Amino acid sequence: MTAPTPPLLSIRDLLVQYPAAASGKRTLAAVNEVSFDIQPGSIFGLVGESGSGKTSLAHAIVQLVRPAAGKILFHGDNLVTMKEKELRSARRNIQLVFQDPLVSLSPRRSILQSLLEPLNHFRIGASGQRRSRAMNALETVGLDQGVQHRYPHELSGGQRQRAALARALITEPELIIADEAVSSLDVSVQARILELILHLREKTGVAFLFISHDLAVIQQLADVVAVMYLGKMLEIAPAGTLFRDAAHPYTRALLDAVPAPDPGHDKPLVLSGEPPSPLTPPSGCVFHTRCPAVMKQCEKIQPAEKHIIEPESSPSAHLVRCHLWNS
Ligand SMILES: Nc1ncnc2c1ncn2[C@@H]1O[C@H](COP(=O)(O)OP(=O)(O)O)[C@@H](O)[C@H]1O
Ligand code: SF4
Ligand SMILES: [Mg+2]
Repeated sequence: MTAPTPPLLSIRDLLVQYPAAASGKRTLAAVNEVSFDIQPGSIFGLVGESGSGKTSLAHAIVQLVRPAAGKILFHGDNLVTMKEKELRSARRNIQLVFQDPLVSLSPRRSILQSLLEPLNHFRIGASGQRRSRAMNALETVGLDQGVQHRYPHELSGGQRQRAALARALITEPELIIADEAVSSLDVSVQARILELILHLREKTGVAFLFISHDLAVIQQLADVVAVMYLGKMLEIAPAGTLFRDAAHPYTRALLDAVPAPDPGHDKPLVLSGEPPSPLTPPSGCVFHTRCPAVMKQCEKIQPAEKHIIEPESSPSAHLVRCHLWNS
């Protein structure tokens, strides 16, 4: 039997809190005791409605926000306790792509300048070779070399997101976090960027934490899918398992909201209303106020994580947090 590959990224019991606006000492937990692993070269899809904590999780991984508790292990080293100097190499290895490409491509810089900036910052390659590295990056993301002299506002939305991906790739990271990176693109452009992401993974072996509020988008590329709600991870499973045999009532409701017919579920569940505020999260199971299968204990007792398949360390593990699975 071969030993399992160690994860690239391991998140353990992560807690991200913000001070609640204008309310003294109160805090809200945007990410609440979240744990998961990302394997090297895999695409880990993270889905959840707006406000579920996806961006806070992404920002904690790249240390844009400091978590209140928990571990973020990259190759086994905890980023949370690292000193600034050690974090430098981790920063080169983990890149973030935003929904709005103008966050990483400055409007005042040409595309070439934006591509050279991380190479100069991390002193990657001899200075004379950096330009050819930038040209290679443009080619990898399917952009013409002529784009190098253009400014972001001169490009289409799809071209801009390709340029943002080129900038993320240029440091040869092992992990790219794409936070709603295709959400503001037209469906046809979106499809081409998703194809590009699959191609980049194939060509470079880079892993993705791909974040979207749209399960239909996640379905097109993820190997493993995690479902987040009000800061909690409610289900994690290999994509095939999740789209065939979703175990959590929230995941099933999200699946039933996906336009394509899903013959696996004969009784559609309708998800109504907005999620509650994370400032005043429901007691017990965070989903109980909207759950069609709610039971008496759900209002009082928080369900523990249950392994439906395989131990936690296996990439085929299927985890769910719901009392329906606890008996
Ligand atoms: N800087 C911040 N200060 C205070 N609250 C925040 C901040 N950023 C996010 N939040 C709150 O944290 C929760 C999770 O937000 P976010 O991580 O952006 O979720 P998502 O990306 O899933 O939409 C939301 O209730 C949001 O209002
Ligand atoms: S624990 Fe209860 S309320 Fe929560 S998802 Fe399961 S059945 Fe629904
Ligand atoms: Mg977000």
